[in-house]
Amino acid sequence: MLSALKMLLLLWLSVSSFGANAEPAAASAVDKVTSNALYLNPKLPVSARVKDLLSRMNYLEQLAQTRSYGGVLGYEASYNYTFLETLNAPYGGSSASFGTYSTNCYLSAKVMSAVIANTTKLNRFHIPVITVGDSVNGPTLWNTTLFLASLSMSSSWNIPLFSEVVNAISLENRVLGVRWVYSPELDLAREPKFGRVGEMYGEDPYLVSRFGVAHVKNMQAPDANGTLRVATTIKHFIYGSSTAGINLAPMVGGINDFYNIYSVPFQAVIKEANPAALMPSYSSYDGVPMTSNVAYTNLFLRDELGWDGVATSDDSAMSFLHDLHKTAKDIQTAGIQALEASIGHEIGGTSSFGTLATLGNDPRVASLVKTAARRMLTLKFKTGLFENPLPDLAQINGKVRSPAHLPLNLNISKESMVLLKNDGILPIKTTGNLLSKVAVIGPLATYINAGSYAADDYLIGSAVLRGIEGIAKEVTFSRGCFVNNDTNVDAMIADAVKTAEAAELVVLVLRSSSSNLDNIGDVRTDGEFYDHADLGFPGPQLQLHKAIAATGVPIIVIISGGQAVEMEYAVANSNVIIHTFLQGDLGGEAVASLITGATNPSGKLTVSIPKYSGATPIYYNYLPTNRKAGICTPTDWQWPVLNSTARYPFGFGLSYTTFSYSNVQVSNYTSTSGNIVVSTTVKNTGSVAGQEVVQVYFGQAFLVIERPIKNLIRFTKINLEPGASQQVSFTIPVEELGYYVNGKKHVDADTYTFWVGSSSDDADLQSKLSLQAHHAL
Ligand SMILES: *[C@@H]1O[C@H](CO)[C@@H](O)[C@H](O)[C@H]1NC(C)=O
Ligand SMILES: *[C@@H]1O[C@H](CO)[C@@H](O)[C@H](O)[C@H]1NC(C)=O
Ligand SMILES: *[C@@H]1O[C@H](CO)[C@@H](O)[C@H](O)[C@H]1NC(C)=O
Ligand SMILES: *[C@@H]1O[C@H](CO)[C@@H](O)[C@H](O)[C@H]1NC(C)=O
Ligand SMILES: *[C@@H]1O[C@H](CO)[C@@H](O)[C@H](O)[C@H]1NC(C)=O
Ligand SMILES: *[C@@H]1O[C@H](CO)[C@@H](O)[C@H](O)[C@H]1NC(C)=O
Ligand SMILES: *[C@@H]1O[C@H](CO)[C@@H](O)[C@H](O)[C@H]1NC(C)=O
Ligand SMILES: *[C@@H]1O[C@H](CO)[C@@H](O)[C@H](O)[C@H]1NC(C)=O
Repeated sequence: MLSALKMLLLLWLSVSSFGANAEPAAASAVDKVTSNALYLNPKLPVSARVKDLLSRMNYLEQLAQTRSYGGVLGYEASYNYTFLETLNAPYGGSSASFGTYSTNCYLSAKVMSAVIANTTKLNRFHIPVITVGDSVNGPTLWNTTLFLASLSMSSSWNIPLFSEVVNAISLENRVLGVRWVYSPELDLAREPKFGRVGEMYGEDPYLVSRFGVAHVKNMQAPDANGTLRVATTIKHFIYGSSTAGINLAPMVGGINDFYNIYSVPFQAVIKEANPAALMPSYSSYDGVPMTSNVAYTNLFLRDELGWDGVATSDDSAMSFLHDLHKTAKDIQTAGIQALEASIGHEIGGTSSFGTLATLGNDPRVASLVKTAARRMLTLKFKTGLFENPLPDLAQINGKVRSPAHLPLNLNISKESMVLLKNDGILPIKTTGNLLSKVAVIGPLATYINAGSYAADDYLIGSAVLRGIEGIAKEVTFSRGCFVNNDTNVDAMIADAVKTAEAAELVVLVLRSSSSNLDNIGDVRTDGEFYDHADLGFPGPQLQLHKAIAATGVPIIVIISGGQAVEMEYAVANSNVIIHTFLQGDLGGEAVASLITGATNPSGKLTVSIPKYSGATPIYYNYLPTNRKAGICTPTDWQWPVLNSTARYPFGFGLSYTTFSYSNVQVSNYTSTSGNIVVSTTVKNTGSVAGQEVVQVYFGQAFLVIERPIKNLIRFTKINLEPGASQQVSFTIPVEELGYYVNGKKHVDADTYTFWVGSSSDDADLQSKLSLQAHHAL
């Protein structure tokens, strides 16, 4: 998605093309609707209601269901009704988004309520406009609960807790009238240079699948009649590893990468949770733009998986077929190409679908438009929109940012932080000397870095400085430098050094900023369209760290950003490193709780941390030849000396206690059960209670195509008192060990290795073999 503001501008652009090509209104005053029309009867099945309504609609009315109002509200919930009317009349628009993150939710919902009520009346069937939002950390408006961004959530490895969080976000959305969200993002964070890594759940297909399924099930939360609370959009189909990490750049791969890697989370979520919508990515894959990729959007999604939801374009993606990909000679061709690829809803751009208004006599186009309208109306009926189209204004106070949501937010914040290094100074007793005088240093230690989908200058809540103020006797603050602005840097660093010298402990907050910082004289360095040429800390932050390290005062480095940063200097020159990724509004309090030991850290990395910017791929599930491609020893990289071993591997994270793994057992496959059972005994061998993420990986000896050496296949998070142990057992249907070759599933009779342990690193794993004697499929 582009920013909300940009969407508003694009929306203005889109008016003229629709208006110019549209035919005059077909007697819109003639309202044929009678109260006993089948589609108005909530007791009938959705399919019957859709069929009835579609039969009453003409081509232009059906086409209107493919259209979106971009950002409807401007600053302070201002809007232009005449403009909406121009866009809408006489056909009825389909979806609307708030369009600003910088207005409180009470005002926005109130204004939006009137806009929806009014625009709904503009079409003769009173088909309501559906309110849609990005909703990554929560509804994107002030005074809602600002939860963490996806990469932080996944670092908790706690699916039950995450499910509660999504349930809370869903409730807040529903009360605010948001019935459809453009989340979750199921792309794999395999390219650390990409600026959108923070929007993803990590680098592993299985892990991302589990978070995706939990998201869709809890956001949609269908009731007994199948009515969805909030419809979801799985996105971006497929994306995440564009060339060199450049947003919009092509994804490289073929049919085997598609089936075995990139589409895995989409397959899992479609099969297990039936998401209402899907968004193809901006990228092309194997040369074909995903927005017009009939093979994957039609043949794979519709025919092979049998999925029948709404496919919506990403913002402006249909015009990009013409403007950027150069695969459509004009935007009308782009619109037809997208329709052929079963895209049925357009966001932003120069309105390719609007240009189809003149093609009602083309039977092929008319039939595709009818299918698109059918899918959109199905989504609307399924969310109960016809019965209940408006925000529930009376419920906002109490349900949004409710007293129950704040402790939940704090809990997942605490569980998501990853302790990467601890030389023993943590946890620090609140009565001890180190917390008597703490210097908090770093650009934006006062600022919540919640990712691209958070209200920009969010004021509620606790950034790192405020968190430390809650645990230390005396706290001093010096910014030290800007994230990405050299102005005045020497004087700022000198001030930070003076502040550090006078303290017992430094909390150094280093970061990459994921929101627009123009208002505080800094610039953004992470997020969509903010890709990384280098994986180190942007701007003068390394210079700042060196100057602080020279004081000799102990340093706790807190890293913030949606990135797997290269942090070699910090590894060698700090006592503690905690990666917080993109926290919500209670991140500072959670950091403080970890520092004092009130919380025992339990987060684990969902992206591998590289040693060098250039030594990629870094993901743990690399292919055998990824790191052994040449004939030279000891390494293929001769100069400079690169090493593609991760500094901190996927699945890694420290605790204040230790765990032992024993009695690892792996059963052989038997055709009677069809399952393999992996079990182990985990014991807390330290002196404090703690949570451990037990991880199971597998690999196969010989395959038809090259596949990763190790693949995550199960995980669970358990809580153990000191000295306590627990037997953990995982049942794995043998089909899950299979893989696709040219679109056909294989499960080979072969020897499989299972690894069990606390991270993806060999040193943290114990392995056992399993023999599978028969083909399962
Ligand atoms: C399901 O639909 C029936 C019939 O319309 C209705 O009586 C019942 O209350 C609905 N149940 C829920 C959970 O909405
Ligand atoms: C509102 O929109 C209409 C129609 O596009 C336009 O003519 C008018 O100038 C707009 N008003 C404002 C205040 O922007
Ligand atoms: C609703 O529409 C009427 C005219 O159709 C207009 O006068 C009024 O301002 C609109 N109200 C809102 C809240 O947009
Ligand atoms: C909404 O949030 C703002 C800060 O962003 C705060 O000043 C205001 O009191 C909040 N309003 C309500 C009703 O909670
Ligand atoms: C937060 O975590 C604590 C400790 O695990 C638990 O007792 C509490 O119920 C949790 N609260 C919420 C709202 O999840
Ligand atoms: C850098 O900081 C200075 C001083 O605060 C400010 O005037 C300038 O606009 C900033 N530059 C950018 C690119 O933000
Ligand atoms: C790469 O780093 C790993 C872990 O530090 C080390 O075991 C290995 O020897 C290194 N390889 C080379 C070629 O330097
Ligand atoms: C699996 O089969 C192999 C070969 O028959 C055998 O050596 C091994 O003990 C078996 N493992 C288990 C857990 O039964």
